[in-house]
Amino acid sequence: MIIAIDGPAGSGKSTAAKGLAERLGFTYLDSGAMYRAFTWKAHSVGVDFGDKEGLLKLLNETNIRIDCSANGTEVFVDGINVTKEIRQPSITENIHHVSSLEFVRKKMVKLQRDFARGKDIVAEGRDMCTVVFPDADKKIYMDADISERAKRRHSELKTNNDASDINNVVDDLSQRDHRDSTRQFAPLKRVPDAFYLDTTNLNAEGVVSILIKEIKLSP
Ligand code: DC
Repeated sequence: MIIAIDGPAGSGKSTAAKGLAERLGFTYLDSGAMYRAFTWKAHSVGVDFGDKEGLLKLLNETNIRIDCSANGTEVFVDGINVTKEIRQPSITENIHHVSSLEFVRKKMVKLQRDFARGKDIVAEGRDMCTVVFPDADKKIYMDADISERAKRRHSELKTNNDASDINNVVDDLSQRDHRDSTRQFAPLKRVPDAFYLDTTNLNAEGVVSILIKEIKLSP
């Protein structure tokens, strides 16, 4: 069974997807981690993000692996564990350079489908319902007011000692929303057959309970 979840940053989809996977005994797929992993590689070798040929060559030489174990999701690039490094602001700021490229998306879609083969999964990202798993058993689209999403992101940054002014977080989220929803390939879109959940006034537990009910009600 495949449960596909899309939504903007801070909508609560990662927490919900992890919680759902745990409750249902499914495997969690964090598709954003794959885009983060390749961005980390490009950043660490110093490829110019405007150099598409250089990025294509690098992509063909890069091995990205996602491991789900008792330690949670771990991300490896060419065998190096980059689970923590891919969350750094320098990576988040540069993802759009690679996530907008069609050849990068093609490789990630293949990796994501290969990862899911033969498993029960909860997959979250921006194009899970639209491109990667259009035949998913259950599609979900999550959103929340931008002020609430910024609050969540801000407290996450504080935990990692990367906190900046909340107004900067709002600006950063608006810019990411715009980029994610207007890019040419696989933009973030709400499909009509997705269950829509506004999480503005819900906590993590509340979100998971609603989603479990909805999944059980589905044919
Ligand atoms: O979910 P996240 O914040 O870790 O995702 C980081 C970026 O990766 C996000 O700004 C857009 C991109 N992304 C994407 O283009 N497609 C996905 N399926 C997941 C993430």
